[in-house]
Amino acid sequence: MAKLLMITATSGSNRELADKFAEAAEGMGHDSDVLDLAEVDMPMFTVARSKSLDVVPGMAELKEKMQAADSWVVVAPEYNGSMPPTLNNALAWLSTDWQDFRALFNRRKVGLATHSGGGGAHVIMAMRQQFSYLGSIVIGRNLVSNKDKEANPETIEDMIQQLAE
Ligand SMILES: Cc1cc2nc3c(=O)[nH]c(=O)nc-3n(C[C@H](O)[C@H](O)[C@H](O)COP(=O)(O)O)c2cc1C
Repeated sequence: MAKLLMITATSGSNRELADKFAEAAEGMGHDSDVLDLAEVDMPMFTVARSKSLDVVPGMAELKEKMQAADSWVVVAPEYNGSMPPTLNNALAWLSTDWQDFRALFNRRKVGLATHSGGGGAHVIMAMRQQFSYLGSIVIGRNLVSNKDKEANPETIEDMIQQLAE
């Protein structure tokens, strides 16, 4: 049994998609949780804020949940051909924690999924580049969906299987 964390960048259709992944993972006998970055609502990262804030709101919960999971599914909509600010912002905050930043991302298995207005290929590419840069092992298969293209349950199942191995 693996422990999987679905990290969603937004609370709409991408949250629904993250819930689908979580439900499927549990149906396959795994432990799963959903983390909604829009609900965590971290302050915007600036260097000044990173120096002045002793406690970053949301950071402890974020790190604890991410650390506790074996693998993550990162679910995000495409914004202007790239990632939405909630995800970028969370990654900026996490990356300033130099002590265990590597341990958090390095060798972590990551699956990518999106529900976007259009194709969603750009946000998948942006996330693949970012998580690979951070040292994570991004699996080749990803899930792309939109209003005309339902999430394929077979893709969800195969991704979970790969992330749980
Ligand atoms: C600021 C902004 C920029 C967007 N840019 C794109 C884009 O470049 N490509 C695309 O396919 N959809 C784009 N969209 C549409 C979203 O990807 C789409 O509405 C998505 O389903 C929103 O996810 P949510 O329901 O989880 O909030 C954009 C939406 C917003 C708000």
